[in-house]
Formats: sequence, C-alpha cells, structure tokens
Amino acid sequence: MDKFTYQNPTRIHFGEGQIAAIASDIPQDKKVLVIYGGGSIKKNGVYEQVEAALSEHNWGEFSGVEPNPQYDTLMKAVEKIKAEGFDFLLAVGGGSVIDGTKFIAAAAAYQGEDPWNILAQQHPVESALPLACVLTLPATGSESNMGSVVSRGKDKLAFMTPKVQPLFAVLDPTTTLSLSPRQVANGVVDAYVHVMEQYLTFPANAKVQDRFAEGLLLNLIEEGPKALATPDDLDVRANIMWTATQALNGLIGVGVPQDWTTHMIGHELTGNYGIDHARTLSIVLPAVMKERRADKEGKLLQYAERVFGINEGSSDERIDQAIAKTIAFFKQMEVPTSLSDVKLGTADIDTLVASLEKHGMKALGERGNITIKDSRAILEAAL
Ligand code: NZQ
Ligand code: ZN
Repeated sequence: MDKFTYQNPTRIHFGEGQIAAIASDIPQDKKVLVIYGGGSIKKNGVYEQVEAALSEHNWGEFSGVEPNPQYDTLMKAVEKIKAEGFDFLLAVGGGSVIDGTKFIAAAAAYQGEDPWNILAQQHPVESALPLACVLTLPATGSESNMGSVVSRGKDKLAFMTPKVQPLFAVLDPTTTLSLSPRQVANGVVDAYVHVMEQYLTFPANAKVQDRFAEGLLLNLIEEGPKALATPDDLDVRANIMWTATQALNGLIGVGVPQDWTTHMIGHELTGNYGIDHARTLSIVLPAVMKERRADKEGKLLQYAERVFGINEGSSDERIDQAIAKTIAFFKQMEVPTSLSDVKLGTADIDTLVASLEKHGMKALGERGNITIKDSRAILEAAL
C-alpha cells in the first residue's frame, strides 16, 4: 500500500427531512445562489424544502444546468454571480448540477483569461466560491469529492481540486423516489464502475480498501435490482445512496493504483454520441476486463472469489465467469453492454480513437501503459 494523506471535509446530513439542516450550515450573511437543472426539483418537493430552509437567507436561483453540463450554460451563472454578488453556491440535483456548480465556483474566482483552461489546460484553481449541495441522484459521488466533469460541445473533460469540495451535502433518500428507472439504473452502474476503477488493478496489500470495495460492490449487486423491482422501498434507496457516496469519496482510492480507462473512453462516447455516462461504462468495462486480463489477473481472481464466490476451475475459467457475471448484472440493471446495443459499430471506433487522441488520453490505466492502440482494441472488444 502506498503512503497517503486522506481528509474528506464534506459534512454529510443523511436521512429524511435533512434538507432543513442547510439553514444552520450556511452562514447567515451569505448571498446564496441555488443552482439546479431542468426542474425535477420543482416536481418532487425538493425546491419547496430548500425554499423553507433558506427563509432567513438572502438567496437567488439559476436553473437550466443540463445533464453533462455545458460550459456555455455554466458561464451564464458566472455572469449572474458577478453582476449580483452571490458568495455561496448551493447545488440541488444530481452529478451534473453538482459538477456544474463546482466549475461555476472555480470560474467565478478565476483570474486567468479563459476559464475553459481550468479543464483544457488543467490550469490550477487558486480559489473558488464556497459551495454545498443537496443530492437528488445517487451515482457519481460528486456530493463529497473534489472532481467535476464539464462539456464544451463534444469535448467532455474533468478537473479535480480540493477547492471545490462541497462544504456539506444533504443525502435524503426520499428525494430519489421521483427518479426514473433509467436514472436509478444509471446511478447503480456508475457507482459500481467507480469502485472497479479503484479496485480492479493489481494487488497492493490494501486489505481495508479491498474489503471495503468488495462490500460496496456486493451492496450494489444486492440492492440495485431491488430498486428497479420495488422502487418505493426507501431502505433500498438509503443503502444505494450511501454506497454511491462511499464509492467515490476518496476512501477506497487511497494508497492504491487506480485505472479510470473505462471512464476516459466512456467520456468520449458521451461527448460524441450523447450516451448517458453510466451506459458508456457498462459498455466499456467488460471489454477492459477482457482486453486487460493479463495485467489484472490477480485482482480479477480476487473479484471472482470475493464478489461472486467463484473459486473452482482454472484461472482463465474463473476470470471468464467473473466477466460473465458482471455483464449479467449490468443486463439485470437494463443497461447496454456492447457498442452494438447502442447502434454503434466499427465505423464509430475511428471517431472515438481520434477523440481520445485529441484529449491526450495516450497512456491510460493503473500502469499508464494503455496506448491509443490498446484503447482501439478495447473498443473493438466492446462491439
Ligand atoms: O435536470 P434535473 O432536474 O436535475 O434532472 C436530472 C437529469 O435530467 C434528473 N434527476 C436528477 N435527480 C432527480 C431527477 N429526476 C427525477 N428525480 C430526481 N430526484 O436525472 C437526469 C440526470 O441527472 P444527472 O445529474 O445528469 O445524472 P448523474 O447524477 O448521473 O450525473 C452525471 C454527470 O456526472 C458526471 C458525469 O460525467 C455526468 O456529467 N460524473 C461526475 C463525477 C464526479 N464529480 O466525481 C464522476 C462520475 O464518473 C461522472 O463522470
Ligand atoms: Zn462515473
């Protein structure tokens, strides 16, 4: 296990009715900008709860942050902040709204020429406006991490800085009851692949991180299908919500090698073809497992045994079974597991490879040895 320093400063308010907690967590003297998406919060009672909690605060709102948040939309919020003097941001929604708010917080304080360089050039973020969030879609872990993904046209890029880590996050599972089955499935699958990106690499004597990761995977395998079958079961929603947060709050990622190939290729699928983030991952991950099985053999066998109880047969047989079980789980969650499932084929691979090249994705994976040629092979294995 490598040395590490770990701190997660996000204060979590978990449970029904916890949106009320924002009243005391946001300093009274702040001018708050509530940022949200297309309006789901106005249909599921979340907006009214936020309004009630901010009854003693000076606040305004900015709506319209789209799924896969677009730079141009976010910059409109930056203009509003500068014109009207907001100094605290409250994101209310899923990963897109929270990521968009993180970028807005950084861009509003950015001294450079073009805030897009925070993403395109990975310019350091010296400061950002304080932000917090009310999560309504368990998936990304953005509610308590320092990452954000923003698009500008077909370019979908990420940046990470502790400066945009939410000060607090409200996780009320009842807010997720209004999610469509599609979004419920997306959230479970995104969280599953977050764990795999930090787990399915090579053995690093990280017994805490491994068993924690395996427990998160088992939760998602057990609870994910239940969330589709019995959508009103709040106990199921509560465990999925907390599992998704734990899947990408830094804890299972400390001191271990991390992959993220599936995500980097997935971002190109979303950027070029508009496929939901999670559905790009369920297409790409099985291909990464197949193509990189030699590099990943040790952890694939551990994954087979500890997650699926597979310990009979040759190494190859066990690995084949573990990959098959993973695909079967994705199918149970009703997400695509191949490029052909989303009507993409060989002709599209050139577009995706060119996109990876444009974004400098030439040395991916836990060993930095996945070249453009290897990514092409992964995409061909995903056909
Ligand atoms: O527009 P709104 O009203 O927010 O509606 C959203 C949107 O249409 C809707 N929704 C959210 N909560 C709802 C709801 N509908 C009904 N009831 C609710 N309670 O669901 C749709 C999708 O929302 P979105 O926020 O886009 O989904 P998700 O949370 O999956 O976020 C995806 C984004 O997160 C990024 C992805 O790249 C993508 O842009 N990611 C962020 C990460 C991070 N910051 O660490 C890591 C992830 O790997 C991921 O890349
Ligand atoms: Zn993800």
